[in-house]
Amino acid sequence: MRLMIAFTTIAAAAAAALALSIFAARASADGLNKSASTGLYWSTAKEEGDLVAKADAAGDSSLLWDDDDENHRDFDAGGFSSLDGMLQWAIGHSDPSKLKEAAKDVQRLSPDELKKRHMEIKACQELMEKLKMPSDAQLMRIAIDDLKNSSLPSEDRLRALEELSTLVEPIDNANELHKLGGLIIVIKQLNHPEQEVRTASALILGKACQNNPVVQKQVLELDALAKLIKMARSEFVEEAIKALFAISALIRNNFVGQELFYAEAGELMIQDILSNSSIDIRIQKKSVLLVADLAECQLENGSNPEPLFFHNRFFLRSVVDLLASVDLDLQEKALYAVKNLLQLRTEALVFKEFCGLDAALEKMRQQLQQLVMEENDSEYAKDVETLRGEVERIFIGKLNKDTQFPT
Ligand SMILES: *[C@@H]1O[C@H](CO)[C@@H](O)[C@H](O)[C@H]1NC(C)=O
Ligand SMILES: *[C@@H]1O[C@H](CO)[C@@H](O)[C@H](O)[C@H]1NC(C)=O
Ligand SMILES: *[C@@H]1O[C@H](CO)[C@@H](O)[C@H](O)[C@H]1NC(C)=O
Ligand SMILES: *[C@@H]1O[C@H](CO)[C@@H](O)[C@H](O)[C@H]1NC(C)=O
Ligand SMILES: *[C@@H]1O[C@H](CO)[C@@H](O)[C@H](O)[C@H]1NC(C)=O
Repeated sequence: MRLMIAFTTIAAAAAAALALSIFAARASADGLNKSASTGLYWSTAKEEGDLVAKADAAGDSSLLWDDDDENHRDFDAGGFSSLDGMLQWAIGHSDPSKLKEAAKDVQRLSPDELKKRHMEIKACQELMEKLKMPSDAQLMRIAIDDLKNSSLPSEDRLRALEELSTLVEPIDNANELHKLGGLIIVIKQLNHPEQEVRTASALILGKACQNNPVVQKQVLELDALAKLIKMARSEFVEEAIKALFAISALIRNNFVGQELFYAEAGELMIQDILSNSSIDIRIQKKSVLLVADLAECQLENGSNPEPLFFHNRFFLRSVVDLLASVDLDLQEKALYAVKNLLQLRTEALVFKEFCGLDAALEKMRQQLQQLVMEENDSEYAKDVETLRGEVERIFIGKLNKDTQFPT
């Protein structure tokens, strides 16, 4: 295997790894004779193990590309214990400088060793040939075709979605998704009766949109946002979380998306989530981060008119109220959101009198002091206290400014 990688490009090795893992999953799911192909791996792995062992014995440890513990673990077991192990190893070794070194090492081999290596390469090539490794685009097409099949059992539908979810991570693949008809079919799955299918589809959309204005635009044009906002209110926690993930990825740094979000009353959804104490805390965390993000985007682009949402006192109070949460992580995220919101145009007095921000900050100060004293999470508590202090300074500065120049 290592030789094959030495003679393959780095990108190909990584792509091959992905393709192989999906292919293997498919092969097993399709009931192909997996033991036959794993057997093949075992035998090549073993030969390789022998080769390495011999090289070690001869003191030629330069044959090993990298002497860290992780590599040895694979070989100590007498080869790769699994397909995954091999793939991990392949990815971990796709380092150009190491490949170069290895190529030099090959030049130093004796004719016998070279011959052995040559056979190794051939075995690998045959293996690849056997697997007929499909390209990412082909794999995406297969998954998309599966999704189009309305009589596909849910198990297979979920598997296709899972594959697509991995495949869309590289930006080039994400950009291909729409061309292959993938976006339309995935968005359609948001209406599937099964919660798992909807959840997996939201995850794909989120991943494909993340930091990708091209796909953001496509998904917005296909009108998926309204549905995602509905899903964020789902009684199924995972569905709500993945929907919020997708919404955040879709409208992040995207003003068109944000306008649509407000037009679809997305802010009401957020407000309902933040103010409902029986809602799962992970959903609240995602929502408050979305608020922080939206406010930050607004701050960075002061020329845009501020959405009314940011001035809604009830909404602001629901964010401030989270500072009293029992979960330090949620408190920190809420602090971060408050910090951004304070820098927008809402009057400081609203935060003070309607939201009770000064009291909330003081209560938090005492709580954090206690945590530091009790040495519970004290490093983290100190960090949060730093952020809290910063919020307090911004708040006091805003109060002073507002009293000096009342509006
Ligand atoms: C799978 O492969 C193994 C090993 O080559 C063989 O013994 C077995 O009969 C095969 N099973 C099927 C269903 O083909
Ligand atoms: C749809 O899925 C069913 C069940 O897996 C399968 O029998 C059928 O061949 C598939 N249809 C197409 C067009 O792929
Ligand atoms: C609050 O959330 C719980 C759990 O999701 C839900 O059952 C309840 O209807 C929500 N309450 C309101 C007022 O939305
Ligand atoms: C900020 O707003 C202006 C005017 O609406 C717009 O042209 C610009 O692209 C925006 N900046 C970002 C980072 O979106
Ligand atoms: C501090 O940690 C201990 C043990 O982890 C826990 O029992 C206790 O409730 C914690 N105190 C606070 C204030 O969180």
